[in-house]
Amino acid sequence: MSIITKTKPPSSETKDPGKPLVRDSFTSKLGVIFATLGSAVGLGNIWKFPSMTGANGGAAFIIIYLLCTLLVSVPVMITELMLGRTARANAITTYRNLSPKKSQPWWLVGVSGVVAAFLILAFYTVVAGWVFAYIGKAITGNVLSTNPEVTSQVFSRLVTSPWESLIWQWIVLIWISFVIILGVSKGIEGLTKRLMPALFVILLIVCVRSLTLPGAMEGVRFLFKPDFSRITPGVILMAMGLAFFKLSVGMGTMTAYGSYYRDDQDIPGSALRVMLADLSVSILAGLAIFPAVFAFGFKPDAGPSLLFITIPAVFASMPFGQFFLILFCILASIAATGAMLSLFEVPVSFLAERTKLNRTGATIVTFLALAAVGATAALSNSILADVKVAGKTFFDLYDFISSNLLMPIGGFFLAIFAGWVWKFPKIQEQLSNHGVLKNRGIIRIYYFIVRYVAPALILLVMLNGLGIVNW
Ligand code: TRP
Repeated sequence: MSIITKTKPPSSETKDPGKPLVRDSFTSKLGVIFATLGSAVGLGNIWKFPSMTGANGGAAFIIIYLLCTLLVSVPVMITELMLGRTARANAITTYRNLSPKKSQPWWLVGVSGVVAAFLILAFYTVVAGWVFAYIGKAITGNVLSTNPEVTSQVFSRLVTSPWESLIWQWIVLIWISFVIILGVSKGIEGLTKRLMPALFVILLIVCVRSLTLPGAMEGVRFLFKPDFSRITPGVILMAMGLAFFKLSVGMGTMTAYGSYYRDDQDIPGSALRVMLADLSVSILAGLAIFPAVFAFGFKPDAGPSLLFITIPAVFASMPFGQFFLILFCILASIAATGAMLSLFEVPVSFLAERTKLNRTGATIVTFLALAAVGATAALSNSILADVKVAGKTFFDLYDFISSNLLMPIGGFFLAIFAGWVWKFPKIQEQLSNHGVLKNRGIIRIYYFIVRYVAPALILLVMLNGLGIVNW
């Protein structure tokens, strides 16, 4: 049983008239891990990780991805959790309050985070809508065909129908808003701590099914045979982008979650555990997908269509395929839900703490704004398919701005802030929970990476993302 803990807001917050004096927060240590993991695990694991790994040298790509995760995204994640917990506020207020000089505009990192969260949600809710719709299509058997041409038609009918895309996006938005209104402990923590174990169980069941198919080993080899000849500087940069996206770092999500962390939570330990669990989900997803893809002679490098076109055809080919396809779609919906909750929390916590709105009001405003902006992404395959900004549809544009610009910029400045502005004594104090945890060695390693290694590596990604340096 968990005890409800309420944390005191910082003094600037208490001056705000009409605001509650206590903030909701995560309650149990395990619940914190599940909620954080719920943010990290998402469509990135089920689709991005396997398709990128497949296309870029299997195990070799996984090793590079792991290095990027350890050298960039885990340190940035620790930074965000630490700063969020210290300030106990939304992303923008956190960086404003922690800035040593009020004249330094560190709060802009928070603004970039709120904008990025909003843009990611605008297109993520579209894909999540398709995943939700697929649960129904799997149950009715509508998408169940061994012929990829048939599944491809089902998919294109869904994405090119303006109303279907919009309505599924609204369903997703209503579902997420409902959980967000319930609050941090009851809503986010309560749901993710039930859904995450379910996700692991479903994933294991689908893995066993896939691995016991005749011819499955070829898929396993494909996933684990290192082929270093495929690794180019461009692939390394891609692995780093995935590492950012996967652990939800560089844009205030983890700052907002960190603000709900308990004072006695081991932050570096939690970040490492979340990273390992998230990696396990990614690898298990690969093991659920590739052995089956190979066993039935499908192509592994189908890219974006892998999830919506290849996978249904693969499942339709196996015994009890409909049952496993339904399970798989539920799994993907669960993964997408936890990720969206964490993204939603960024604008909602900001609005609820800095404006007159309460949490419900903030959620409704965010919902309406997302329904409006998100519609431009949802209609990118139909009515707005020909409307392009900088050569991209709205859907691709939001993805590009958030992943290639805002997240690396946010991550870079976060690392600089921790390593060069906040400095070691404060970091040591925070990450050891005021000397309670004996983790000085880990803190030293973190400090070195966040001061030198992470900023340098992120700079490379940023320059590439902007097309200034092109490999
Ligand atoms: N990590 C999630 C995934 O893999 C996506 C996600 C959730 C995210 N919150 C985020 C990405 C914040 C960037 C920033 O699907």
